[in-house]
Formats: sequence, C-alpha cells, structure tokens
Amino acid sequence: MPTLTPKQKQVFDFTFSFIKSEGFAPSINEIRNNLGLKSVATIHQHLQALEKKGYIKREKNQKRYIELTAEISPIVKQEIIINPVKKYDVLPLNTIIHGDAVEELKKIPDNSIDLVVTSPPYDDIRTYNGFTLNLSAIGKEIFRVLKQGGMAAMVIQDSTKNFGKTLTSFKTIIDWCDNAGFKLFETTIYRKYGAEGAWWNKRFRVDHEYIPIFLKGERPQYFNKEPLKIPSKWGGKTLTGGGTRLTNGTRIATRPIKINLMKCRGTVWEYLTAGDGTRLKHQHPATFPDKLPRDLIQCFCPPKGVVLDPFVGSGTTALAAINLDKNYIGIDISKEYCELATKRIREETENNIQLL
Ligand SMILES: C[S@@+](CC[C@H](N)C(=O)[O-])C[C@H]1O[C@@H](n2cnc3c(N)ncnc32)[C@H](O)[C@@H]1O
Repeated sequence: MPTLTPKQKQVFDFTFSFIKSEGFAPSINEIRNNLGLKSVATIHQHLQALEKKGYIKREKNQKRYIELTAEISPIVKQEIIINPVKKYDVLPLNTIIHGDAVEELKKIPDNSIDLVVTSPPYDDIRTYNGFTLNLSAIGKEIFRVLKQGGMAAMVIQDSTKNFGKTLTSFKTIIDWCDNAGFKLFETTIYRKYGAEGAWWNKRFRVDHEYIPIFLKGERPQYFNKEPLKIPSKWGGKTLTGGGTRLTNGTRIATRPIKINLMKCRGTVWEYLTAGDGTRLKHQHPATFPDKLPRDLIQCFCPPKGVVLDPFVGSGTTALAAINLDKNYIGIDISKEYCELATKRIREETENNIQLL
C-alpha cells in the first residue's frame, strides 16, 4: 500500500477507530474537531488522498459515507494494535497536564478517579486559542477512568442560533447515558447572580447553566450533603404544617411545626459570580465560581480522594481540591492556562495543606 503522510495517517486512524466503536463513519466536522484543525477543506483533501491511495471509499454527497477498504495496510493495522497509549503506572497526582483531554485521559488507568468536575468548551462559543473538542469521546474516557460509584459533574449551557437553542447540553446528557454508560444522577441548575449580562431585544437574559451529575455504577460511592445545607427562609419559626396524605388515603392532622434553621439543598444551586476570584483568575475568560467545585467535591469526593478536571482552565477545581485536602489532576490544551493554573495553585492555596 502507498505510504501516508502523518496527517493522512491521523485522519485514517481516527476514522478507523470511530467506525470500529460507533459502527458508522465520522462526519467531516468530527474528524476536523478531533484533529484540532480549523479548515473543513483540509479534511476533504486528506480524505481525497486516502481514497486515491486505496485506504477508503467514499460516496459523493453522503454525510457519513466513508468505507474502509478491505486491504487495510498491515503497517497501519500493526500500529493500532501494537502501540496502544501507554498508561501511567502511578497516577500523576497533583499535576497540571498540558495536552488534549481525550489523548491525556487515555493515559489514565481504568477505575482510578473518584470525581470529575469540569466545564468543557461547547458550541465553539470560545475557541480557546483555536482548540475545540469531541464531547462524546470525552464522556467515554471519563466513564472509563472513574471508579465504580464515581461521579462526573459538568457545567454546560446551549448557545442560541437564529432563535433556536443548539441543545448541546441535552444531547450530551443523552449521549453520555446511552453511549458512555452513565446514569444521570441529577441535573442541577446553576443560577448565576452577578453582572447583568446582555439586554436582548427579542430574547430572555440567560442567567443559568446546567450541572448534569453523572454516576458510574449502581450507587454513589460517597455522598455527603451536610456541608451543602442552606438556610431555611422561615428557620426558627413555628408554622402550622403537616396534613400529608398517607397512601391509605388518611391525612396526618395539621399541627405546629418548628422549622429547622438549615435545610437540604434543592436542585437550584445559586452562586454569586460578580467579584468571584482574584486578578489572576480573571486572566481566564470563562471560569466557574470557586464555590461551585468546592460544593461538588464536599458532596461526592471521599477523604483523600482524586478529583479530575480535564478542562482545568485557570485551575479552579484543582484549588478547591487542594483546599479540601483532596488530590487533583488537571488537564488543559492551552499552555498559557496550564501556567495560569499552576501559578494560582502556588499563590492561592490555603496554608499548611497536607497532601497524600
Ligand atoms: C470553560 S474553560 C474551563 C474553566 C475552568 N472551569 C476555570 O474555572 O478556570 C474550558 C477550558 O478547556 C480548555 N480546552 C479546550 N479544548 C480542550 C481540549 N481538547 N483538551 C483540553 N482542554 C481543552 C480551554 O483551554 C479552556 O481553558
């Protein structure tokens, strides 16, 4: 078989593994995102070259029609089988890793992480120095690296195009449950209080994001909602209550009830975004509030557990993990943000933290 250029081989390898795992061919955009390239035309050129060299067959004007020809080069085949990504023998605890999330996650051993807290880029709202990604592949890798009972919480929203929401958040939730293997434990609403935001003429001002929380396995390995309690509006007062109807149709008589000062957190989580974080943190354009990963870690990460953020940005998740005496692993494709996260960790962690 004719030899391939490194980029053609990358396109072929990605198409090969995509077809093997999904049962159908990737779209041009999926190939482009995986390779981190901007131009669709370049992908077409690579596919044309692969077809000319006899590696694939394509059907004109069909979105997902790429067929691998019967004679796959033994060289390509060998590399796929013989060179699997080398996994870490020892987890790189308390490290910020510079690299692509999917590629770096592949190096992390199965069933080794307690909790993932992250906010991936979505809908190409920000290109973060030109990088975009495949959320479906991320879901599968996150599922693999989590321990049984481990959780993954993701902050996500949909952008609006021509008065229609993109549905990326909902599609990702369904994909992670249908194809990665997760159960959806809950979707909380992250209600933002802060800067007023844009005044649209014909749209609402969006002041929330979603936090779908995924579970691997039967039940959470750790769940502590005590630190997440919130003050009751009528706490300390005695109000008339009860009256609950029982399954047999009778009612419990109403009676005076003393309202607890604190109550269980509901599914709307409120955070003040204005004034959150330091001058250093503000060097990143899309951070979440410091308290958000803190709440999730307190609730779902066992003592001395390992928290992973594959899109660590300015390092907010890593800082929360350190301050709660947990271990972290952070990944970001931007060298600049890896350096920013490292700097924040050096300058902003609480004193006297003992790590494992
Ligand atoms: C929404 S930001 C995360 C911000 C973070 N939660 C914080 O509070 O600082 C998303 C991050 O994902 C990174 N990113 C984009 N594509 C990536 C990829 N393929 N692999 C790893 N990181 C990526 C961007 O550089 C960006 O820093």
